[in-house]
Amino acid sequence: MDIKRIGIITSGGDCGGLNAVIKSVAREAYAFGIETVVIPNGYAGLYNLVDLSEVVLLNAERVSRIEASLAGSEAGHSRVKISKIADPAKYERIKKGLKKFNIDGLIISGGDDTGSVVVDLSSRGIPCVHVPKTMDLDLQPYSVGGDSAINRISVFTRDLKTTGMSHNRILVIEVFGRYVGHTAFRGGIGAEADCILIPEVPVDFDIVYEHMKATYFARIERSDVKAGTYIIVAAEGLKNASGEMLYDESAGVDAFGHKKLAGAGKYVRHQLEKRLKTDPDIEAFMKRTGMYAPGVYVIPEVREVTPGHLVRSGHSSAYDVNFGHRAGAAAVILLLEGKTGNTVVDVKGNKIRYMPTPEAIKRREVDIDELALFESLGTCFGRKPAEYKPEMMEEHRMIERSL
Ligand code: F6P
Repeated sequence: MDIKRIGIITSGGDCGGLNAVIKSVAREAYAFGIETVVIPNGYAGLYNLVDLSEVVLLNAERVSRIEASLAGSEAGHSRVKISKIADPAKYERIKKGLKKFNIDGLIISGGDDTGSVVVDLSSRGIPCVHVPKTMDLDLQPYSVGGDSAINRISVFTRDLKTTGMSHNRILVIEVFGRYVGHTAFRGGIGAEADCILIPEVPVDFDIVYEHMKATYFARIERSDVKAGTYIIVAAEGLKNASGEMLYDESAGVDAFGHKKLAGAGKYVRHQLEKRLKTDPDIEAFMKRTGMYAPGVYVIPEVREVTPGHLVRSGHSSAYDVNFGHRAGAAAVILLLEGKTGNTVVDVKGNKIRYMPTPEAIKRREVDIDELALFESLGTCFGRKPAEYKPEMMEEHRMIERSL
């Protein structure tokens, strides 16, 4: 494909590894004698490109000023879906903007909504390649940002244990992840959380309570200083046993039209508090462990903590910087090869793996078959533990990373 100038767009939620994508797109393009420019502010910027007086050229000097290990995106973001813009001439306007700045093709990094726009734009004759990006990890391929978010969730959760231990609190940490539990699951395991609640497993709160009671009681009673905590990592898209999502309706919707999910942690706290208040064993436990103060401190405290955007901000993990570099460079080659409407999967040796974007953006959930292993190690997932009966599989080549 005859490409002399590439426009780079990042869209959806910011996350780790995106600046590596931007840098490697610019550097790989440069190696082929192609220029890269930033289309700022996601698809909102693409729509408004025609009104800009200039675009930022990512030449060698400008690229060197981008720090790949910083999360967020030098290109900026918005949650705008082109098809929803109330302007019948939007696609013509976009094409005019691309023509104005001599942009022959786009490399667009984002999640499922962003990917659906890649499909839309490609079908309208705008060459574009998709680089998978979302901390939620709900795309078919690995997406840049996932590993960074998992590491941060893990560090925050682990760090919160010191507060939990000091106050003998039961802590519920509500984390981003939308409708899937990949980041809560992996981040929770990384921090050795006692209980991990994910949307793929409708929660039975009686089971969570019993696990909490047994673990927390034992921990405090065994401690010479009577200190202990119980840590729950709860994904924001949690469902109860009847399959209803546990979010706060008043939070509204974002610009893509998705419900803003918030409130799962609060719901979990209420469920535990309700049971603590009516459990006849609690008063004796509080007295036995020297915690009881009549009228003031009669049940253990349950607190929810919501790190929110902290889980995807700050710094990128080294894995995401690596993946971001691979995926950005691969996207340039795909674009040059005319593979428009495709998503980079990864680079293995000298092979660029890719898949059609409509396939890549199909939602991938946590494989719940894996939970039984962690249940056998003592983690609670808000359900009756399943028996761990793994099958054997002999491998003769390198096993792929699975997250
Ligand atoms: O899709 C990424 C994500 O971080 C979700 O996990 C979360 O629900 C959402 O974005 C929050 O989006 P915003 O930054 O628009 O509040």
